[in-house]
Amino acid sequence: MSYDDAISALSSNALKFVKDDYIIGLGSGRAATTLVKSLGKLIKVKKYNIKGIPTSLQIKLIAEKAGIPLVETDQVDYIDVVFDGADQIDSQKFVIKGGGGALLRENILFSLAKKIVIMADKTKFVKNFTRTVPIEIHPLARNSVIKSIKKLGGIAQLRSLDRGYPFFTENGNIILDCDFGTIKNPKVLSQKIKQTTGVLESGIFLRKPDVIYRAKTGGKFDIL
Ligand code: A5P
Repeated sequence: MSYDDAISALSSNALKFVKDDYIIGLGSGRAATTLVKSLGKLIKVKKYNIKGIPTSLQIKLIAEKAGIPLVETDQVDYIDVVFDGADQIDSQKFVIKGGGGALLRENILFSLAKKIVIMADKTKFVKNFTRTVPIEIHPLARNSVIKSIKKLGGIAQLRSLDRGYPFFTENGNIILDCDFGTIKNPKVLSQKIKQTTGVLESGIFLRKPDVIYRAKTGGKFDIL
């Protein structure tokens, strides 16, 4: 089942949150890609003077092609609106991110955002989190963090590429995809993960989105 039409339709709708002179955070992944392409068209038509902040090289390349002027996170004090996708969204509206490995930069943008808009298809909405939690860690803390995750009740798996090479983030770190089963208390779990030495970021984001778009079948969507 493809949700591409719905993601395309909701991306156009989400552009209503964009105003002239805005600083806009650009998340990573497929939903963010669709949004960024639409944003490029909007700023050309409206002649908006906006600046985008990419969360990965993946989205930077798309944004450059779309003609969006870019700056870096450390050049701004705030971000007007961040648009991003998600890997899972629970009933409390906490979000798991990091399926593409961009979680550290994405969460830095979330911390600076006045408004966060999340776009995801309906398969990603759950009562309690069930998928693995991506955790970005320093490579030298691999074994110690794996042990700490075990004490928290999780099973950590080093993220690897197809031929077994480890996946490195754009920050030179590695990712552990951690299976905690069903997560009933994501807030406490994320806080414990982040207290572990060697952990740079937890994929359970505690800043809740302001707007959530849910893509449905037949090109339809709703807003939560
Ligand atoms: C990147 O690391 C992720 O947080 C993505 O934003 C997330 O995986 C959602 O991506 P899709 O929109 O491609 O599903």
